[in-house]
Amino acid sequence: MSLYFAKKKLVGRRKNSYPPGPWGLPILGILPLLNGNNPASKVQELAKTYGSVFGGYLGGTYTVFLNEYSTIMEAFGRKNDVMTDRPKILPFNHFIKGHGLASGFLHNNWKGKRRFFMTALNKFDVGKPNGHAATTLESEIDHMMNEIAYRGIEHDIAGMLMMFTGNVITRLTLGIRFEYAESDIQEYLDKIAEMFEIADPANPLVFFDFAKFLPWSNNRRFIDYNNEIMDYFKILVRKGIESSRKDDKNEMIDMYIKKFGNPETGELPAANENEFFHLFADLMAAGTDTTASNTLWLLLCVIKYPDVQRKIQAEIDSVVGYDGRPTLSDRSQLPYTEAVGWESRRFCLAGPFSVPHAAVTDTEINGYFIPKDTMVIANAWAVSRDPELFRDADTFKPERFLDTDGKLAVTEQLKSTIFGFGRRTCAGRPLALSEMYLLLARILHRYNLKIKGGPETVSLRPERGLATRPHPYNIIFEPRQI
Ligand code: HEM
Repeated sequence: MSLYFAKKKLVGRRKNSYPPGPWGLPILGILPLLNGNNPASKVQELAKTYGSVFGGYLGGTYTVFLNEYSTIMEAFGRKNDVMTDRPKILPFNHFIKGHGLASGFLHNNWKGKRRFFMTALNKFDVGKPNGHAATTLESEIDHMMNEIAYRGIEHDIAGMLMMFTGNVITRLTLGIRFEYAESDIQEYLDKIAEMFEIADPANPLVFFDFAKFLPWSNNRRFIDYNNEIMDYFKILVRKGIESSRKDDKNEMIDMYIKKFGNPETGELPAANENEFFHLFADLMAAGTDTTASNTLWLLLCVIKYPDVQRKIQAEIDSVVGYDGRPTLSDRSQLPYTEAVGWESRRFCLAGPFSVPHAAVTDTEINGYFIPKDTMVIANAWAVSRDPELFRDADTFKPERFLDTDGKLAVTEQLKSTIFGFGRRTCAGRPLALSEMYLLLARILHRYNLKIKGGPETVSLRPERGLATRPHPYNIIFEPRQI
């Protein structure tokens, strides 16, 4: 009970003190206010009463929500990194115990890992039409197109997208790829997708660590999956190191060994092997489910809006013809196709709360006191629906991202809304964008996409999670005849 009153003391104070916020229940705090399929829209509603910066307890975790782009950028963009940590809640405490890059705590060499990863992506020419990354992606999309054809006319593509995104990462990091059929990695990728669902920042169980002792709880499942996945990933990293010793393919592992290992033997000191394993595991989490979920939304949007689908196909045909195939080199000539990708990512925002941050020290936001360790959540969903940034925000309108000459025009606000704000913004953005472009262009070049029941039955209601997905659906892949 004393905890309850202590919590209540924090809310409702004036400026220069804690941000205002709604009254919370004992133990649960304001979690019951965030129920339903779109907790971020509930937070946006609460902001109308309490202001764009407001706070409250999610279970025992004091949390401040930021609902406006300028405030989020001011807070998360600070060069002193005071708002750059991750909160000490289930997903971050347990997923590689806070040693990852996207999921990692600041003090676990976040900067070093980020620098290494960005240098590697640069070296691979990620985001460019040619180069190592482009060759890898185009070979992977060929494998996936074969698999789509092999699976027949109607199927759910979710697992295949996890394989595609997983293979891109295992190739660029370790130089290893997996066949779609009989591949044991699929089981672990499916578990990553489930972990993302559990890690929903508005999921009450995330805030009650004791639940890990309940054998049927999501917390227990999260931790068990984490342990199984990590055992498997350790084996993969070992394989990558051994194959690098035999044959330097110039993948990330080879670069890492050159930097931190013994150039004579090709071995890494145990501490560095461990750090590379943390980086690899984190990239497998950060770069698979996110891209797969966004692609599931994107394909569903073009099924829901068949006119948009036809327009993309017409654009692709006019550039590469029916007998050609769209590649990364054609990307700059397919602005409408790209605009549809951006609009679907805005309209069906898969990361409504982006990824939570935490305050490293006591600080302030908009004059409100923010104590050390406060979880700070950017309401990206509220930004995506801000009419000042996106006119007619509730309408699906890809043309909004084309300028008067028909060229792609994407704002910084949009990029941050989807890929995160400030210092921890997505380090894999150029890779993700290349993947999603190729998936859309190659699939629509070959197939008309439909769903049983027709476009009017398509629901864009999200399933909850850290990265939200649509309700599972089968796609009808109707080969195009011209
Ligand atoms: C559509 C696909 C993707 C989306 C929407 C997305 C979104 C995000 C978001 C919202 C963040 C957190 C930003 C923050 O904390 O403020 C993030 C971080 C990150 N993402 Fe992505 N991401 C995607 C794909 C990828 C891919 C393919 C990779 C690479 C393999 C990747 C690697 C990372 C990394 C390493 C971070 C951590 C950055 C840091 O903490 O310094 N992401 N991403």
